[in-house]
Amino acid sequence: MATILDGKAHADRMLESVRLGVEDRKAKGLRAPGLAVVLVGDDPASHVYVRNKSAACAKVGITSIEHRLNADTPQAVLDALIDRLNADSEVDGILVQLPLPKGLDSKEALHRISPAKDVDGFHPMNQGLLLEGLPGLRPCTPSACMSLLAHHGVDLKGLRAVVLGRSEIVGKPMALMLLEQHATVTIAHSRTKDLPGVCREADLLVAAVGRPGLVEGSWIKPGAVVVDVGINRIEDPALGQRIFAAEPRKLETLRSKGAVLCGDVRFGEAMLVASAVTPVPGGVGPLTIAGLLTNALMAANA
Ligand code: GUN
Repeated sequence: MATILDGKAHADRMLESVRLGVEDRKAKGLRAPGLAVVLVGDDPASHVYVRNKSAACAKVGITSIEHRLNADTPQAVLDALIDRLNADSEVDGILVQLPLPKGLDSKEALHRISPAKDVDGFHPMNQGLLLEGLPGLRPCTPSACMSLLAHHGVDLKGLRAVVLGRSEIVGKPMALMLLEQHATVTIAHSRTKDLPGVCREADLLVAAVGRPGLVEGSWIKPGAVVVDVGINRIEDPALGQRIFAAEPRKLETLRSKGAVLCGDVRFGEAMLVASAVTPVPGGVGPLTIAGLLTNALMAANA
């Protein structure tokens, strides 16, 4: 049986370190870091994320300032808010919650954020620094995944790593961070030929495609470390029957509650083959916010 990599426990360790960093600032007479969160429209998942972010900020002593805008906000108004936050000396970090409603250009908004306040690490300047292997604000989810792997003593040097997914938020930056740690990295995606075969070569498999239960046990090399970044809500009983064959408890939750969360990896199957696996929920999910608050502290201290 594989070890479960407990993301919640690691997120708590990261948050404790942020809390100590905030206390340290206060001891030096500096103000608490300020994080501005911009939420446009009424995407229910985004509202949940933003609530969780605010609660985590309160726990570690970061001042969180929420800016809520209507879904029909014109681009010029969003841009003007970002300009104002860029100029505000009390604001150390700016996060524009994605996805933005239709009609708004997320690239335009993200590129407008001052790179020094870009706690998501999505600005081309910060992406460029990552590409060059230089310090900068780095995307929260992959950097927190790297921290989790380091904590568990996974030595990446020379490992075959396969990153499944090529998003700007996770796949691409994760691949660069693994490469920086001397892994041999393949980025696989929906057009990759023989995806199961490519995944089977991985000593470290990172799945970040948002496809529930895509990765079967037979796709995993025995003894591999599996990091499951997917967070998918399943309501379809037929899909549940297919992907939860090795997880009767998930199936039961789906039956009793009408929905259940799962990753891109079939967790029950992975547990029988891998050496270590992150669960969903309780794996990578809690790490993202911990990565964000780590960045907010870093931006304040820069
Ligand atoms: N929406 C989903 N994940 C993220 C993230 O990491 N950052 C932002 N800004 N929006 C998101």
